[in-house]
Order: sequence, then structure tokens, then C-alpha cells
Amino acid sequence: MKGLPYKLTGILLLAFVLFSCAGNYASEYEKQRDQKVETLLQEMTLEEKIGQLMQKNGEFPQLREYIEDGLVGSILNVPDPKRVYELQRLAVEESRLGIPLLVGRDVIHGFKTIFPIPLGQAASWNVDLVEDGARIAAIEAASQGINWTFAPMIDVTRDPRWGRIAESFGEDPFLNGVFGAAMVRGFQGDDLSNPNTIAACAKHYAAYGWAEGGRDYNTANIPESELHNVVLPPFKMIIDAGAASIMTAFNEINGIPATGHVPLMRDLLRQEWGYEGVVLSDWRSLEQLVIHGYSPNEKEATYEGMQATLDMEMVSTGYETYLPELIEEGRIDESQIDDAVRRILGMKFDLGLFENPYGLGEDFPELLHPSHLEASRQMAIESVVMLKNEDVLPVPEHVRSIAVIGPLADAPHDQMGTWVFDGEKEHSVTPLQSIREFAGDNGLEVYYHRALQLSRSKEITNADAILRDVNRADMVLLFLGEESILSGEAHSLANIDLQGAQEELVELVSGPGKPVAAVIMAGRPVTFEKAEPYMDAVLYAWHPGTMAGPALTDIIFGKVSPSGKLPVTFPRHVGQIPIYYNHKNTGKPPSYESWVHIDDIPEEAVQYSLGNTAHYLDYGFEPMYPFGFGLTYSSFELENPELENPTLQVGDTLRASVVLQNTGDVEAAEVVQLYTRQLFGSLTRPVKELRDFKKIVLEPGQSREVVFEINTQDLGFHNPDKGFVTEPGDYHLWLGTDSRDGLKKEFEITR
Ligand code: GLC
Repeated sequence: MKGLPYKLTGILLLAFVLFSCAGNYASEYEKQRDQKVETLLQEMTLEEKIGQLMQKNGEFPQLREYIEDGLVGSILNVPDPKRVYELQRLAVEESRLGIPLLVGRDVIHGFKTIFPIPLGQAASWNVDLVEDGARIAAIEAASQGINWTFAPMIDVTRDPRWGRIAESFGEDPFLNGVFGAAMVRGFQGDDLSNPNTIAACAKHYAAYGWAEGGRDYNTANIPESELHNVVLPPFKMIIDAGAASIMTAFNEINGIPATGHVPLMRDLLRQEWGYEGVVLSDWRSLEQLVIHGYSPNEKEATYEGMQATLDMEMVSTGYETYLPELIEEGRIDESQIDDAVRRILGMKFDLGLFENPYGLGEDFPELLHPSHLEASRQMAIESVVMLKNEDVLPVPEHVRSIAVIGPLADAPHDQMGTWVFDGEKEHSVTPLQSIREFAGDNGLEVYYHRALQLSRSKEITNADAILRDVNRADMVLLFLGEESILSGEAHSLANIDLQGAQEELVELVSGPGKPVAAVIMAGRPVTFEKAEPYMDAVLYAWHPGTMAGPALTDIIFGKVSPSGKLPVTFPRHVGQIPIYYNHKNTGKPPSYESWVHIDDIPEEAVQYSLGNTAHYLDYGFEPMYPFGFGLTYSSFELENPELENPTLQVGDTLRASVVLQNTGDVEAAEVVQLYTRQLFGSLTRPVKELRDFKKIVLEPGQSREVVFEINTQDLGFHNPDKGFVTEPGDYHLWLGTDSRDGLKKEFEITR
């Protein structure tokens, strides 16, 4: 440090010493932890070891006895914090070894303060907000004694018929990985032993979103290249982000049930990826190996689970019942049990449960803290995607009376969406409530009609009164979509049109010719092509959570511009599914030159060639709205795309830049998206793949250069015959504001 001021030298030296200790500290911590695990393991009986591999539901009749006997590793679904405390005390103070419990809960998009469903959070394209939301969820959940959440769900899916698309981050592997990792950071914080953190559990490993027909739990038949290039990358990103655990899926993958899938679990996850976290089954998914027709009985299912290195069994009792026998018979070695127990005890040490099993105690930030509600409101604002606006939003000054109509304008439970165990509708602020408050403050008249009791109701009530009020109103705000019961687990739909009499309702309220702005709340893309022409504006709000009302009011009345972008492609018709942006080119890609619409086929046509390309005669080949699409109240231009180095070698960094300008007259955010395409490969590659994105807020007239750096190594893919390869050749790159358009550049990887 010659020549540096003495004091600065001292500071730098101190920093160096601390840094090197910190580095050692991490391995020192792990060394001490592992020693403690070994010491404890040596004291455990086989029965106590097997007990750690069991997760019991809160209603299990002998739960107290089992815990007192040290035969439970984890509990789930115990919503009462006092009971959690009592059960934890039993484990720590009454059982022989005092091993604390993992306390699990589905904290999927908030605990008491409910955030938008994960699909809506993905639509925000705001990584920091997603992380902050998970942090808040962890604080609230930990305050109730929970120390383990079964989230993030990162099941890539291309099928909106599947009810659980709501829980995912959509169709793109990169988005699922980025937002899943953000949730892991939020849940686990910087130090998992901090009592205001909870362990994450990435799920469902794997290919749950590939259920045939979008029918939940259905078979997943998926080529290895697609499994490794689309489904698995988010799990690798999540593991690299430090996820403490992973949950296996219900489905089979190409004939082998995920929960007993030795190649995917033992060979890939454990041996190739080196994952040392806890792997938990889904609810009874281990015993379901029998129902799948993979194991002849539960004993054999137990054998498969242990061979696959499944650590903990959720609720079913195969491990408890058959592991002793399997060890006795020498088919399972006790060392396999020890490995599972080590991972479970390691997670409990990492959570700090041996030092502080009771978590935050009484001094925690109260549930629904104003700052939590504000974060939920901001996330809801940024998740709303404006799909159409023919100058009817934001509500113009001259509008002095509004007809608020529809089944989701005042639906405090439904606006929270699926997987809301601990959210309470009493805390929801609905759009109707917020609009009435805004109207009262600004001298506006509001005429409200629910019109349909539920989104799926088939009868419009009070049609005459509705028309009367639409006639006297200056505009209509229509709240449509699906109630939360139509979304989520086991809630798949073959028909994803607007349910019930909603299309009739749209036609009814548009009759008088007043401007109609529609807000659609749903847990999936719904198909609404028939109703769309009657809507002058469309805001897609997903299920926005507790603060749906204030968030939508802010947007509708122009306090803030919508900024969401679609994380999933919207089909025009359910028959187009699967339809997604990162598709292959095929040998006969569709075009408007070749497609003849069914209505345009000449009557005399018999063998008339209708264009031999990959389209539908009736619905063509394009979606209703493409992945990455979303409008704002402003307008933006992209110009001057540049590649610093259009000729690269594998491992080089590709630097791309573009200038974004807000050419409108209000502040707004735009999401600049970077896509690449490998034109030729040892396997065919998608026509586009999202590689990075940046959400930028600009004032009117403001410009900014947006710069991306991509490691060419990351442009590779898994070829089953070669492993992960990044191949020399020609590539295209797009810088755009959705997956359909963009400024194109070309580059080459030479070797
Ligand atoms: C469910 C879900 C899983 C959830 C678990 C516990 O069936 O598939 O995602 O975490 O059971 O509730």
C-alpha cells in the first residue's frame, strides 16, 4: 500500500483481514454446522432418524405423541401461531433430543398482506419488487412461527387451461428463473438464521407445467432437449440462488413419476448439480407411485423414493412404515437415511432453529403494516398490463359520472386469487371502494351494478337498471374475469372464454355507445376475442391481491401509467394452445402470404391449395397478444441499436445498446427486452429466446441509452448427445418492447 495515506492503508488492511475471515467464516460455519449434525446424528436411533424424514399435517390425530417421541421432522398447515409455538415447544423441550420442527406453509404470494399472483408479479418485469414482496411475506409468515414456505413455483408452462399457470411466472424459462431467484432472496434474506426469514422451496421438480391438455396432474411427455432447455433451467438458476429446498411434482415425466425419478433427482440434481438442499415430496406424491402404476405397492414406492434421494415425505407414511423393513432386508442402507437426515438437520441449523426455535416471538412488525400494503399496491400497479386503449384511459376530466359494472368490481376474496391460505377478504380494498373514494374526493357520480353474482353466472340481473345508468353515465368501467375458485390447483378449464354471461354483459353495456374500459381479473390468459371489439380499453390485472382497488384506481384515473408486460402469450382461441413466442421455425413457417382464411376459401375450391404452411384455416397462426406486450399512457421509440463486437468467440461478452426515448407527454416505464436466435444448430433452436430485460422510467422527452451484456456462453443449449454446447455460427439479436417486433442486429460466434 505504498504511497497511500496511513489511515486509508489501515482501513484497507482491516478490510482485507475481515474479508478473508468472512470467506473462511462461510466454510468455517459450514464446518461447525456439519460437526454439530454429525454429533446429533450419532445420538439418534433409527426410529428418530426416520422420524426426521416425515412431514405431518396439522390435523394428524397423533401429532403431539409423535412429536414428543421425536418422530416428526416437520409440520405443515398449522395456521394458529399459538399452536405452532406449543408444538415447537413439545419438540424442543419434551422430546429426547430436542430437535426443532420445520414449520411449513404455502406462502405463495404473500401471507396476510396478499400480493398479485405470481403470474401477475411476472407481468411487472420488476425483479426488485418481486424480491421485496417475498421479503415482506417472509416477515409476516415468520412472525406466526412459520419457517418454511413451499414457494417459489417455477413450473414453465405454455398452457393457460392449466389452473396453476397462476402460480408460475409464465412461459419463459429466463423469467421463471429470474423471478424465482428473486423470491428465494426475498424469503431467505442475507442470513437464513435471522428469525424474520423463511426457507424457500422451489417447485415442482419437474415438468408439472407440461401436463397434457393443461389438465392438472396429467402426464408430461417431453423430449429431453425441451426438458433441459425449457423446464430445468429455472431450477438451476434457483439452486444457484441458494434455495434451501425443492419439492417434487405429482406428474410422471416420460413414464417415471417425478417423486421417484432417479435420473432427474439422484443423477442430475444431486450428482451433476451437486444440490445439497432438502428434497420434499408433494402431498402424498410418494405413495402415488403406486397409482401411477410405477410401483406395485407402497413399500416399493418407498424404495424408489429413497433411491431417488427424496429426503422428506409430505403426509403419506411410506418412509415411516417401510424403511425399517427395507433396511432390515438390506435393500436400503442406513447411510442413505443418514444422508437425508443430514440435509434436514443442516437446514434446521441454517435456519437457526437450534438457537432460536420460536422465531420472532412477540416483537415483530405487525401483519398488514402500512409499508407492506404500500408494497403490495406498488406491485399490483406494476403488474397491470394495458392491452388496448383507444383514448378512453386515463379517465378524462370531462367525465363526471361513471357506471361501474361487473362481478369483480367488488369481490374482496376473489381479487386475492388462488393459494391464499392466510389472506382475509376483510383486509381487501376493492376497486369499487377505491373508485367511490376517489369519486367522492373529486365530485364524480358512481352508478354500480354487479350484474352477475359470479363471473360464471349465466343470468344478468337488473339489465334495465344497468342500461338506465349506462345511458346517464359519461363512461363505463367494466370489471370482468374469473373468480379465484376457477384458478389454481386442480382447477383446469377446457374453455377459457369469459365465463357465464360476461360476453353478453359486455355487449349490453356497450349498446348505448358510451366509452367502455374493461378491467379483467383472472389467474390465466382468458380468450375474449368476441368481446374485445366492444371494449375501448382493456387493463389485464390478473388477481391483484389485497390492494387491487387503490392500484387500479391510480391507473384508471391517471395518477400512474400502466407498465406491465405479458409473461405469457394470449391465444385468440383455446384451439391454438400451445402457442408461445419461443417456438421453432418449422420447415414451412406460416405467413400472411400463404394463409387463406376459412371464410375466404372459394366456394368451388376442392383441391385448391390453401397455402401449405403451419397455420390454422380458421385462426391463422398469431396470438391475440404476444409475450412481452403491454401499452403505457405514453409512447416510446427505440433507436440506434449497436453491437460493440459483432464477431465473438465462445466466452466473450456480447455488448448491445439501444437508445430509448419517451416520445409521449407523461412519465411512464418501458421494458426493453433483448432476444437472440441461433440460426442453425446441432438441434433446431427457437426463433427467439429472451436473454435479458430492463425496465426504464422516463419523463416525457427524456432519452436513455440502455446497455446489455450477455456472455456468449449463456447462448448455449443442452443437446442430449453432446451435453451443454454453445455453437459457432450466425445469430440474430433483437432489442424491442415485446417479443413480436424489435430492432434487429446480427452477430457471429466464430468458435
Ligand atoms: C399441494 C401442492 C403443493 C403444495 C402442497 C402443500 O398439493 O401441489 O404445491 O405446496 O400441496 O400444500
